Amino acid sequence: MKFFIDTANLDEIKEANDLGVLDGVTTNPSLMAKEGITGEVNIIQHYIDICQIVDGPISAEVIATDYEGIVREGEHLASLHKNIVVKVPMIAEGIKAIKYFSSKGIKTNCTLIFSAGQALLAAKAGATYISPFLGRLDDISTNGLDLIAQIRLIYDNYSFETQILAASVRHPMHIINCAEIGSDVATVPLKAIKALLNHPLTTSGLETFLADHAKGNS
Ligand code: G3P
Repeated sequence: MKFFIDTANLDEIKEANDLGVLDGVTTNPSLMAKEGITGEVNIIQHYIDICQIVDGPISAEVIATDYEGIVREGEHLASLHKNIVVKVPMIAEGIKAIKYFSSKGIKTNCTLIFSAGQALLAAKAGATYISPFLGRLDDISTNGLDLIAQIRLIYDNYSFETQILAASVRHPMHIINCAEIGSDVATVPLKAIKALLNHPLTTSGLETFLADHAKGNS
């Protein structure tokens, strides 16, 4: 399973990249705003900065919601760097735009997926990735992981090449469960990636090894 980091924070992106296990980055307008990145010029520069840190797919989201606007914005974003993936919302105009981008060889990530039907439509339009939001389904007492499993089954039934990019991943068990189900990608906050490192038996075991080594060498 590929690991993307879900943030627009350059320090966090660098830290995850330095760990050596990062495959890509996802952003969205809320994550950009959280970092205080506003205005078209700054937003565009920020995407370029991210592309210079990570050599992998970088999702950049369009703001337009009409077909012509999505196509115009998406083509501009795609022209910034070969690794840009145009992130398009799951709306009718977005599906039409994904079909167009797919015919032009522009990679897309269909975002705000909350049902298997939406995932099926996005795959038929030729989306490169779809982003089902696990945590936000969990927030409304619906099992987000069940949706990932349902989409996995449907995509496998028809050999769709669209990749499942589990999003709104909140904690390490989401990551493990996504890997068990066979999600192609999980995009996660740095905190959740780092949480995978920890186990109390690793910590205590290492302490013992180092203490025993010190005793033997004193
Ligand atoms: O990848 C989508 C993500 O940024 C949304 O996460 O935690 O706001 O639901 P969250």
